[in-house]
Amino acid sequence: MTRLFRALVAKEDSSGNYIQEVDNSIKFSILPSHEVLIFVQYSSLNYKDALSATGNKGITKNYPHIPGIDAGGIIEESDNPLFKMGDEVIITGFDLGCNTYGGYGQYIRVPSSWIIKRPSGLSLKECMILGTAGLTAAISIYKMESIGLNPKNGDIIVTGATGGVGSIAIAILSKLNYHIYAVTGKKSQFNYLKQLGARDIILRNDFIDVSDKPLGKRRWAGVLDTLGGPILETALKNTLDEGVITCCGMLQSNEIHTSIFPFILRGIQLMGVASADYPIDKKTMLWNRLSSVWKIDFTKLNIIESSLEELPQYIKKMLNGNITGRVLVNHNL
Ligand SMILES: NC(=O)c1ccc[n+]([C@@H]2O[C@H](COP(=O)([O-])OP(=O)(O)OC[C@H]3O[C@@H](n4cnc5c(N)ncnc54)[C@H](OP(=O)(O)O)[C@@H]3O)[C@@H](O)[C@H]2O)c1
Repeated sequence: MTRLFRALVAKEDSSGNYIQEVDNSIKFSILPSHEVLIFVQYSSLNYKDALSATGNKGITKNYPHIPGIDAGGIIEESDNPLFKMGDEVIITGFDLGCNTYGGYGQYIRVPSSWIIKRPSGLSLKECMILGTAGLTAAISIYKMESIGLNPKNGDIIVTGATGGVGSIAIAILSKLNYHIYAVTGKKSQFNYLKQLGARDIILRNDFIDVSDKPLGKRRWAGVLDTLGGPILETALKNTLDEGVITCCGMLQSNEIHTSIFPFILRGIQLMGVASADYPIDKKTMLWNRLSSVWKIDFTKLNIIESSLEELPQYIKKMLNGNITGRVLVNHNL
């Protein structure tokens, strides 16, 4: 008998719109011929997933497609002796869910070079609550601290604060005793951000400096930006001498218009964060940190647990900037 599995499939309908539907009878033969077959228990919803699920050809070239850039599950078959049947493993990024069928399928087949064994301090479920968003927050903080950021240098700002990357970044930075300012568009989520560990909150529109002055007040020792555009331009003007900024997202714009003065007069550093292809040894090191010294208090994070059937509504909400915290995809719901 042909073995079948279930997945959320993104496809184009007859009107040219992209829709997502649960399919209970996907053939295993559609999976690529990689070394390791994984029975997926959990995945998560990231902004990139929302784009892939709605036909963004910059991320996914061919449809029908199974999105899901994160997956946590149990190995069922492996051609690599380092990974054995029954091992609990996680995958975040690389090509998973982009042009390789992803974690919204009950099964995935991936190269062993993408796989990390579940760190002992986290359950599979906790790993996927963090997912790519958690890893991206961790890379951003790691990069800033690697060049000297520490709580004594001054205040740190996190933008897109109620989103996945923003929420987890605040939770980690709070654990590390940073004085965090959260920048958000959601007036209704001030209490949530305070509970996560933000000491002060600024509404996005109040934060943006629209003047054409090349420099503003020296204010921030560190900036973790997920939005780009005018938010990042403002941050560049207001960072302290030798301060650091990481940029990982472009939800406000993929452009910045700036001068070189913050760099040549204040010596600030702007660093990019690219989590998908971040080297596996560094991903592993940061997952170990996320499971120990940087382990967040999950009870403070807003977590929405979703079945495959419920996921399309959260995809829509995410594209409108209306998700707070993280959406966990549970294949057993
Ligand atoms: N480079 C990488 O490796 C990497 C990895 C992960 C994510 N990212 C990028 O980082 C960004 C944040 O990702 P995420 O997973 O945290 O996303 P998310 O959970 O959807 O959160 C995004 C948050 O950004 C704010 N926002 C401001 N303007 C927005 C707009 N026009 N549309 C949607 N949200 C808007 C909202 O929070 P507030 O209302 O609180 O401001 C929103 O909740 C995305 O651009 C994503 O692609 C990059």
